[in-house]
Amino acid sequence: VNSCVVDKVPDEVAIQIFSYLNPQDLGRCAQVSHRWNRLALDTSLWRNFLPIQWSKGVWSFTPMVDIEVEEQSLLENKDECVAIYYDEDADIDESEEDDDTKRIKKIKMETSMLMSMMKYLLPKVGYGVKTINLAFSQGLVNGLLYKMLSLCPLVENLDLTHTRVSDLGFKSLGRNGCGGNLKRVDLAGCKNITDVTLERLSQALRSKPEIRQEDCDDNNHEEKNEIELNEKGDKSSKDSDCHVTCRQNIKEQTVHEDCKISFTNDIEDHSPRMSESLANQKGRSVDLTLTTTPTLKVGYITEESPRLTLNTGNISSFGQRTSLCCPKNCCFDTASVKHFDQHSKNMNFKCLTDINEWTKICAVKHGHESEIICDNLECGLEYLSLSGCSHITDKGIRALVIDQQTFPSLQFLDLSGCDKVTSLALTDLVSVCTSLDHQFLYYCDNVTADPYSDSASGCQNLECPTRACCRTGC
Ligand code: FES
Repeated sequence: VNSCVVDKVPDEVAIQIFSYLNPQDLGRCAQVSHRWNRLALDTSLWRNFLPIQWSKGVWSFTPMVDIEVEEQSLLENKDECVAIYYDEDADIDESEEDDDTKRIKKIKMETSMLMSMMKYLLPKVGYGVKTINLAFSQGLVNGLLYKMLSLCPLVENLDLTHTRVSDLGFKSLGRNGCGGNLKRVDLAGCKNITDVTLERLSQALRSKPEIRQEDCDDNNHEEKNEIELNEKGDKSSKDSDCHVTCRQNIKEQTVHEDCKISFTNDIEDHSPRMSESLANQKGRSVDLTLTTTPTLKVGYITEESPRLTLNTGNISSFGQRTSLCCPKNCCFDTASVKHFDQHSKNMNFKCLTDINEWTKICAVKHGHESEIICDNLECGLEYLSLSGCSHITDKGIRALVIDQQTFPSLQFLDLSGCDKVTSLALTDLVSVCTSLDHQFLYYCDNVTADPYSDSASGCQNLECPTRACCRTGC
């Protein structure tokens, strides 16, 4: 191991090498040494959490679950599944292993694997997880889902299709900003959820993800720098409320209210004179999360004051280029919306109102506040499927519509099988989904006074016996 090339290259290069490995190999690498453990469990390597396919031996970070096959299998074993759900702890006669016994074993193995990952893996990589896919999991229970969401608060894609979770599993949504980044939520076939889940989802979507110091401490990164800077950039303000937590391997940085940071920038050679830890992040993706919602104002950039100062309610001037907002050290002198969008994707910016403000900073040309170009970068939920969630009522739908706040990004809404939802609540919700193309809107065909009969796509569950539909009687 001592002569291994990985031990001779910088962390960034080693992580790049590790990025070609699958989760099983990363798990093995994590057992080699302390350094390999830290590298293999870098949050950037664990964007997709797909334990169900991993439990089937499909060791890939790319979702490969064949939904049609799963649905067919679920359909064929529908009755048996119900029995298994409620008889997991039944005694098993090892001598006669029929199909049911094998299936029970499989469920237990899946649950056991989920519990292990919950205990040993997610506390270290959870903050990097963007996608959680637990579709068709038979081993998932509420307690596991609750813990999982708590450990992965920045999740963007949540797929719980055809699982038996209920409202209890979503208890962590909205707490400390958990779920605030959700873009895609698929709860199709989760027949146990009620309006309470939608209330929690609504709360989560309107919260700001919060990265707390104590959460980061769970990680095993050896190199961490906690920097507390005053406006002059020294470390004398230890008792100040402000601090920026910078790690080489955790790319979330927390900026608390009352925080004041100053970074100088050398215009001549474009080498930012920042703290070492921040400088090391140059060229790597950096996620920024503001934990409060201060009234951020975008200042302007002048060559005379090549300095970024951020404090409560203010973002003022900065130099020609910034590595804080733009780790690729790009110059936005010729910025265009297209150019910027591309970069925002590369940098994995969060879809938050606050981040919009940050993106504005990136896009500002020096010296001209009027040249801010990214005013309309919208964010929020893009996909919501509640197909087959027959306990959902108008109350749950209206919980999503609070104070007429819009879902500007929602492009897919499936309420098939939610036959208790009336046209009134439906209209309330659809009216705030400003980007929703009605061909991607699905709901019960028998709703009275159908407001979108000409444009919407109706109920999808007529031909799907595994999901509730008032016509099939499920
Ligand atoms: Fe009414 Fe499917 S729920 S038609």
